[in-house]
Amino acid sequence: MMAAELATRVTLSPMQAADIDAVTAAEQRAHPFPWTRGNFADSLQAGHSVWVCHEAGTMIGYGVLMMALDEADLLNITVLPEHQRRGLGSDLLCQLFEIARAHGAARMLLEVRPSNAAALALYRRFLFSEIGRRKGYYDGREDAIVMAREL
Ligand SMILES: CC(C)(COP(=O)(O)OP(=O)(O)OC[C@H]1O[C@@H](n2cnc3c(N)ncnc32)[C@H](O)[C@@H]1OP(=O)(O)O)[C@@H](O)C(=O)NCCC(=O)NCCS
Repeated sequence: MMAAELATRVTLSPMQAADIDAVTAAEQRAHPFPWTRGNFADSLQAGHSVWVCHEAGTMIGYGVLMMALDEADLLNITVLPEHQRRGLGSDLLCQLFEIARAHGAARMLLEVRPSNAAALALYRRFLFSEIGRRKGYYDGREDAIVMAREL
């Protein structure tokens, strides 16, 4: 593969209040258990690191990081269904690693549903390892797998 083909294809820009409608609509299509409009508004309000991701001018996804001292918690990473499985989620995740490092994070943490095979496969591919479980984390109905990766 040529070096140029390895270059990142997506660009990240900080999510603005004006993006929330489009992101919320995308979230409804991409997740069986979607965040609400209020969850995105709260993330912006809380000062989390919230990013919209474009490829050639089209919004293809977004990501939300919560920074806490030297740790970054990946709260949401989404690629729209019609753009999945093209390597864009990997690009987005790598850029979120860079953003977290730039904030001084040494480790990234996340919670994932055991039923979310795509996300689990992505995280394992990027060397996240399971560090624990949170019982009934998702509305008491499903446990969360807690994963971590050094940055
Ligand atoms: C998880 C998600 C972000 C992956 O995005 P993506 O752009 O499809 O990921 P990539 O194309 O970079 O895939 C990278 C690797 O992850 C794994 N992977 C991704 N989707 C997969 C799937 N549906 N099944 C199995 N493995 C999968 C594969 O190893 C894949 O590499 P390959 O295509 O060469 O086999 C995307 O599926 C998504 O947005 N899902 C819905 C939202 C969600 O659940 N987010 C995570 C919790 S917040």
